[in-house]
Amino acid sequence: MTNKTYRIATIPGDGIGPEVIRETKKVLEAGGTRFGYTLKWTDFPCSVNHYLETGDILTSSMLEEMKKHDALLLGAIGDPRVKPGTIERGILLTLRFELDQYVNLRPAKSFARTPLPVKIPEGEQIDILVVRENTEDFYMGIGAVGRQQLSCDLATSRRLYSMSGSCSASFDKDIRGAIQLGIATEPGIRRITAWACEAAKKRGESRLTLASKSNALPQIYGFWEEIARDEAKLQGMELTVANVDALCYHLVRTPQKYGVILTPNMFGDIVSDLLGAIAGGLGIAAGANIGDGLSMFEPVHGSAPDIAGTGKASPVAAILSGALLLEHLGLAKEAKMVEKAVGTYLETASFENLPVEMGGKASTEKAGDRIASIVTGK
Ligand code: NAD
Ligand code: IPM
Ligand code: MN
Repeated sequence: MTNKTYRIATIPGDGIGPEVIRETKKVLEAGGTRFGYTLKWTDFPCSVNHYLETGDILTSSMLEEMKKHDALLLGAIGDPRVKPGTIERGILLTLRFELDQYVNLRPAKSFARTPLPVKIPEGEQIDILVVRENTEDFYMGIGAVGRQQLSCDLATSRRLYSMSGSCSASFDKDIRGAIQLGIATEPGIRRITAWACEAAKKRGESRLTLASKSNALPQIYGFWEEIARDEAKLQGMELTVANVDALCYHLVRTPQKYGVILTPNMFGDIVSDLLGAIAGGLGIAAGANIGDGLSMFEPVHGSAPDIAGTGKASPVAAILSGALLLEHLGLAKEAKMVEKAVGTYLETASFENLPVEMGGKASTEKAGDRIASIVTGK
């Protein structure tokens, strides 16, 4: 029993974001009732609606206010009414970068009875932890689109370093082209590799896999391999390097053989959606963005405009992200309890009472209600 109070900032966001956050709050509140902790919520309006109404995406005063909280819970953002990237970079990536949330943790765990699109041996489970570098790579936003002459500004600031300079190119013809630069740094790779090694040790494992692609992109991913190998060795861990294309092939065929998978930013984005599908659906894929300051918890999925407002969204991914949030607050036992309640729901509910994504008929709200009642023990 803990009687502590925690301040939680939330960004419900767009599409199914507010729908799954409502259920997550319900379940985490149920945990509070049972275990004695109190959560004080502050909702921030950052979303496409807010942007269209006010022109604001994420203001510096909002960011300063968020920093006064113990954790941040985000539903999903993005909406076809605005150009792709406007709101995603303006909110999500800005938060990851400004708060230096260098670890993107994305567990892919299957639950018994959850239908999987791949066959795994009887009695075995998928239990993979994707540890995605979250501040560098092709995500830095450095690039240009232009005609004949292309030039881009490299000015970037991270907690680890800041960078300046420019890059320019010209075509010998009057054609249009585009550049996007991927950046990797030794301290950036070392800290995420060390974190992934620590996570593997906590799981009782002595090895991890790096998703790479040095056969085609030798500078950036050859460098990644060199530094990650060295850091893993310093940490006393064995690192297997796999080309990300072949890794995807093996993940579909034998996902049960993998443990911790370390990835650069872009491969981690792709591999985590693939693993979401393999382990039972994007509707159960949880995530956390962790740094030394404010950390942010959010499902792997997006705002799913195709099902927004229909009640078909599974709240499980957001609820499991809520469990990661509790764990981060130091409420490990309570976090396990929420995870267990999700397991009980998925394993004991009648087929009809499962989320729509799993072939059932339970609405977002019904699924949330059931999990909350298991948490409270009713
Ligand atoms: P998406 O993850 O929103 O949807 C992909 C597919 O998965 C859709 O068919 C959707 O219906 C399904 N799905 C997703 N979550 C589900 C859930 N909880 N339950 C059941 N089914 C679910 O990806 P998208 O369609 O590429 O992106 C839609 C918008 O979301 C875009 O604007 C994108 O930029 C944004 N996005 C935001 C985040 C985020 O906020 N963290 C993440 C990914 C995408
Ligand atoms: C995710 C999303 C984001 C990413 C987008 C919305 C910028 O796909 O969290 O996986 O690419 O990281
Ligand atoms: Mn993604």
